[in-house]
Amino acid sequence: MMNSHFTQEQYHALHVISSDLARPGPFDAALKETLNQMHEYLGVARGMVTIFRRDIDQIQTIAGNQMDEEATERARYSPGEGIIGRVLSSGKAIVVPRINQEPLFLNRSGTRDDIDVSELSFICVPICYGQEVVGTLSADFNARSEPELSLDLKLLESIANLIASRVERRRIMEENKRLKDPDAIDSHHSIIGSSDAIKHVRQLIAQVADSRTSVLLTGETGTGKGLIARAIHRMSPRKDQPFVHLNCGAIPEHLIESELFGHEKGAFTGAIAAREGRFEAAKNGTIFLDEINSLPAQAQVKLLKVIQDREFERVGSSKTTHTNARIITATNKDLEKEVEDGTFRADLYYRLNVFPILIPPLRNRGADIMLLADHFISRYADEMGKTVERIDTPAIDLFMSYHWPGNVRELENAVERAVLLSEDGVVTTRCLPPSLQMKAAENRNEKRGRLEQLVAVYEMGLIKDALKDAEGNQTKAAEFLETTKRIIQYKIKKYNINYRQYRKSIA
Ligand SMILES: Nc1ncnc2c1ncn2[C@@H]1O[C@H](COP(=O)(O)OP(=O)(O)OP(=O)(O)O)[C@@H](O)[C@H]1O
Ligand SMILES: [Mg+2]
Repeated sequence: MMNSHFTQEQYHALHVISSDLARPGPFDAALKETLNQMHEYLGVARGMVTIFRRDIDQIQTIAGNQMDEEATERARYSPGEGIIGRVLSSGKAIVVPRINQEPLFLNRSGTRDDIDVSELSFICVPICYGQEVVGTLSADFNARSEPELSLDLKLLESIANLIASRVERRRIMEENKRLKDPDAIDSHHSIIGSSDAIKHVRQLIAQVADSRTSVLLTGETGTGKGLIARAIHRMSPRKDQPFVHLNCGAIPEHLIESELFGHEKGAFTGAIAAREGRFEAAKNGTIFLDEINSLPAQAQVKLLKVIQDREFERVGSSKTTHTNARIITATNKDLEKEVEDGTFRADLYYRLNVFPILIPPLRNRGADIMLLADHFISRYADEMGKTVERIDTPAIDLFMSYHWPGNVRELENAVERAVLLSEDGVVTTRCLPPSLQMKAAENRNEKRGRLEQLVAVYEMGLIKDALKDAEGNQTKAAEFLETTKRIIQYKIKKYNINYRQYRKSIA
């Protein structure tokens, strides 16, 4: 093999990194420096370190270069999910020569959106401490050749070894932080709400959790299907066994069977090594098949067989494997209609639909909206280290009158943003996404012209923004908007804007 040795520059970088890490001092700073060195000397376009939080069953990003705080926060994964999730659960490195050819790529941090991904290679290595995988180290490289990548892999593995013990300490620290606050442990998993609709769902969960019965979760996007699948697993006797989540809609059709059942070496082009499937990974735990409606016809047949016989074969193998995994499925489509249309097998549908749970949309859950908003406010305020004391009345009105097509997820995102933008401990309408402000205005006052309403909300926002930038000075605000002071004064009156609140306090 050519190029099988490190270059001078690579040695140098490793040397600098290891001495940085050996120096006493805060780990976060050292880690950031390590990522910088990787960027500077090793051709890493972007590096990232995650830890596996066993307490909340989540992979959490603790450092990343070229990533702002928001991107770091977004980059959370479930074990087994995406490439990072897979490296974590398998303990094996993954090398992706070209990102754009890899279906598992999630780009959760969203930081590659404006980069031409066809030019990027990606490597993710496990960070191991003792027998355990405690996190991952991953890096984007500008397109590399295979021999280069195999050297890069070795480099990343060396760096992962160097940081392993401190990553483990960091992981324990994060878990302890939560342990000190017993409410917090639960809060990531708990199902918030006191509406009759959600109470009924809770009852159903309690009824079915104990058994091995298959559950079909239906509900619009963002209603909490994933959360409830986990809740069922956690309340079941299988809770200490794996919970494996597979989004059938995210896997290309030709790979889904190998993903579910595994494959033998050489089973198809590209199957360079044998691999276990998700049913095997689930052991005696729970397998959660999300977006089950997108399961292709042939895989539907195989799944039906697994349910009937509790047995399957890896793709390309004739050896039968037994499974005892419990199956939970979810969809936001009308499966019954897909059965009528002939795109989903009726026999499979009946097997999956033994115990259906329909999760109601958020707009039918009344006061749950505010309970959830409060819940997310305290969570995000905690995580961002901010104090948020209240939501003002106009903002509450907006929350309550909005129809939440994206359900709890949309609410969670809106609140996360609102907490970020909040000032002086108050969430105001200014902190809410413009889409929400406009749609809510639309709903609230259907009689008035729609255009007029939309323009008014937009105009009000522009004026508030200008006043804010002008620190409450109306003349300046008028200049920013290239209009006259008289018009600004007129609009301030019309919209009842308190411009004084934007003045800098002298205190
Ligand atoms: N009742 C609830 N209490 C607290 N958090 C909730 C509740 N319902 C949903 N969430 C949170 O809202 C977000 C979206 O929920 P989830 O991912 O489970 O929705 P989903 O139905 O699986 O959506 P999709 O169909 O898009 O996959 C998650 O962060 C989840 O934790
Ligand atoms: Mg989901």
